[in-house]
Amino acid sequence: MVAPTSVQARAARLREQIEWHNYRYYGLDDPAVPDAEYDRLMQELRTLERDYPELVTPDSPTQRVGAAPLAAFAQVRHDLPMLSLDNAFDEAEVVDFDRRIGERLKLGQVDYVAEPKLDGLAVSLRYEHGHLVCGATRGDGYTGEDVTHNIRTIGAAPLRLRGKGYPPLLEVRGEVFMPRQGFARLNERARERGGKTFANPRNAAAGSLRQLDPRITAGRPLDLFCYGVGVVTAGALPDRHSDILLQLREWGLRVCPEWRRVEGVAGCLEYYRGLQARRAALPYEIDGVVYKVDRLAQQQELGFVARAPRWAIAHKFPAQEELTRVLDIQVQVGRTGALTPVARLEPVLVGGVTVTNATLHNADEVRRKDVRVGDTVIVRRAGDVIPEVVQVVGERRPADSRPFEMPTRCPVCDSQVLRPAGEAVTRCVGGLYCRAQRKAAILHFASRRALDIEGLGDKLVEQLVDREQVQSPADLYGLDVATLEGLERMGRKSAVKLLAALERSKATTLERFLYALGIREVGEATAQALARQFASLEALLAADEDRLQQAPDIGPVVAAQIRAFFQEAHNREIVQRLRAAGVHWPAPAAPAIDRPLTGKTFVLTGTLNGMTREEAKARLQALGAKVADSVSKQTSYVVAGAAPGSKLARARQLGVTVLEEEALVELLSR
Ligand code: IVH
Repeated sequence: MVAPTSVQARAARLREQIEWHNYRYYGLDDPAVPDAEYDRLMQELRTLERDYPELVTPDSPTQRVGAAPLAAFAQVRHDLPMLSLDNAFDEAEVVDFDRRIGERLKLGQVDYVAEPKLDGLAVSLRYEHGHLVCGATRGDGYTGEDVTHNIRTIGAAPLRLRGKGYPPLLEVRGEVFMPRQGFARLNERARERGGKTFANPRNAAAGSLRQLDPRITAGRPLDLFCYGVGVVTAGALPDRHSDILLQLREWGLRVCPEWRRVEGVAGCLEYYRGLQARRAALPYEIDGVVYKVDRLAQQQELGFVARAPRWAIAHKFPAQEELTRVLDIQVQVGRTGALTPVARLEPVLVGGVTVTNATLHNADEVRRKDVRVGDTVIVRRAGDVIPEVVQVVGERRPADSRPFEMPTRCPVCDSQVLRPAGEAVTRCVGGLYCRAQRKAAILHFASRRALDIEGLGDKLVEQLVDREQVQSPADLYGLDVATLEGLERMGRKSAVKLLAALERSKATTLERFLYALGIREVGEATAQALARQFASLEALLAADEDRLQQAPDIGPVVAAQIRAFFQEAHNREIVQRLRAAGVHWPAPAAPAIDRPLTGKTFVLTGTLNGMTREEAKARLQALGAKVADSVSKQTSYVVAGAAPGSKLARARQLGVTVLEEEALVELLSR
C-alpha cells in the first residue's frame, strides 16, 4: 500500500521531532520533553512504518537495531590513518612538548584545547550527505573493523546529522566508552548469573562493540564522545579545533562537555590539575588529558612524527593499575554470614593511594581468575570503588602454588557453611552465634542510618564482643562508665560521651528500628514500607506472610525472611529487651489506611524547581507512595527535574513512565 502524502509528511515530521529530542538528550544533555512524550512519538512512527513499510528508511530512528547478526567483520581501510598520541607522564614532559612547539612555530605562547583522554576505544564514523554510512574501529590505525551495525545501536551516535552546512563527506573520530554506572551494573548482573565479568569499562566497551549480533550491543550501555575529524570534503570546516568541536555539536554529534580552550602550558597544567581533582566524580573513566594545538594552520605546520602528531600529546594520570603480590587470601564473614575472600597484598601505590587488600568477591570469582597465594597480580582502583584484582600474571606464578579453596566451615565460629544452589554466595549458618556476624550486626545497629550511635566504631565493637561484654544490640544499653573505661583507647570522657550517645539513640522511629535489626532482605526502603504499612511493631509481629506481602514491594522471599526473623525466640527477646531499655518511637498518628499512592513506587532524579527532593519525597510518602533510589521494573514513575541523571536513561530503557515537575505538582495537589 502506497502511503498517502499526508502520512509521508507525518512520518517525516515525526523523524524530525525524534531526532531533535535525541539531540537534546544525547548531544546537549538537556532533554526537552519527558520520556513518555518521546516514547509516544516513537510509537506513532513505528505504527506508521508497520502500516506502510515502504516508509522505512535506513536512518529512521526506529532502525537502530535492525541488522541481522554478521558472520564476520568486514575490514575498513582508513583513508586518513587513525593515529596514536605521544604520552607525557609528568609536568616536565608537558613543558618540553610546549617548548618544542613554541620553537617550531616561533611563538611565545600557543593556544591549546585541553580535553579528557577518554578510556574507551577509538572509532571513525563516516557521514555521507549527513547520513551515517559506516562506523569502524581503529584497528591498527590503517585498517579497522566495520562495526556500523553496532554503532547504529548507540543512541549518542546520530544516524543523520542535524542542520545545514555539513560537508558532503565527513568522517568523525571519537571514543566509544561505557559509563561507570552501566559498567558496574553489567558486571553485577554477570556475577549474579555466574557469568563472565569484564575487567574494566574499556574492555567492556570493546567487548560490546565487537559483537557480531547488534542486539547484544544494543543491550549494553555504550556512549560516545567525538573529539575530531578524519577525511572531510575540502574547505568545509572552521580553522580552529575548538570551533570544530562546537560545530560538531551543532551537527548533533556528542562532544565531551569538559573540553576547554587554554592559553600556553600554564593553562594546560591548570586544566590538568582541575580535572584530576574531579576525575573520580566524572560518570565515565578517563586516563589523562589530551592537549591539542588549537589552530589547524599551526597543526599543519607542525605535522607528524612516525605515528603521532607533533601538535598533540596525552598527559596521563598516575596509573590506576599496578602490579603487586598476593601475600594471603583470607575469608571475611559479613553481617549476613556471607563469606568473602579477600586478597592481602604487598602494599602498593595505585593512583596515589596505598592498596593492601582487594576483594575477590566470591568462590566463583576466585576460581575464574584463579588467584593464588604467591601470585603476582594486577590490582586496579577506580574512583571510589574497592580495589579489585584484575588478573594474575601467569608467567610469574611460583611453581608450588595451589588453587584457593573456600573453607568448608566458618573461619570465625566453625559453623557449617552453605551455598544454596544457583547462588554465588557461601554463607556461615552460625547467625549471631558467629562472632563476626555479631560484630557486624552491632555495627549495623549503631550505624548512621540505623540507630545512629555516634562514637561506636569498629575498634570498640571488636573489643566489646571479644570480651563478651556485648552479645547483642540490647547489651549496648547495659554498658556503664566502669566497663567502657577499661577498654583500649577509651578514657572517662569518651566513655561518658558514648553513654550520652546511647541515651540519645533511644528516641528513634519505627522504620529506623526495623532497619537496625538487620533482618535479611530488609534494607531502608523495605523497613520504611513495613513501618508505613503496619504503623506499629505489634501489628507487624502479628502479620503472617500474606499480610506482609500486602506492603508495597514485599514479595514472598522478603516476607519469609521477616517471618523467620521474628519467629526466632532469640530475636524476639532482643526486641523486647531493647524496648525495655527505653528504645522508643512515636506512636502511629493515624490508622494505616490505603492512601492515594499506596502501592506506587517513585524515583526522583534531577533538580526540582518548586521544592527540594527531600520535600517531594516526604509529600509522596505522605500519600502512601514509596520513594526508591534506583529505577527497576517495579518503579511506577520516575520524576525528572532539571539535569536528570542516568536514572532517566534507565527509566527509558525499562519503559517506566516519566513525570515532569508539573505533573508531580498536579499529582501532589490532587
Ligand atoms: S585525539 C591524532 N582525543 O587516545 C590524534 N584521542 O593514543 C588522535 N583518546 O586512539 C587522537 N581521548 O582512542 C584524541 N580526547 C581525545 C582522546 C583520544 C581518548 C584515545 C583514542 C586514540 C588514543 C591515542
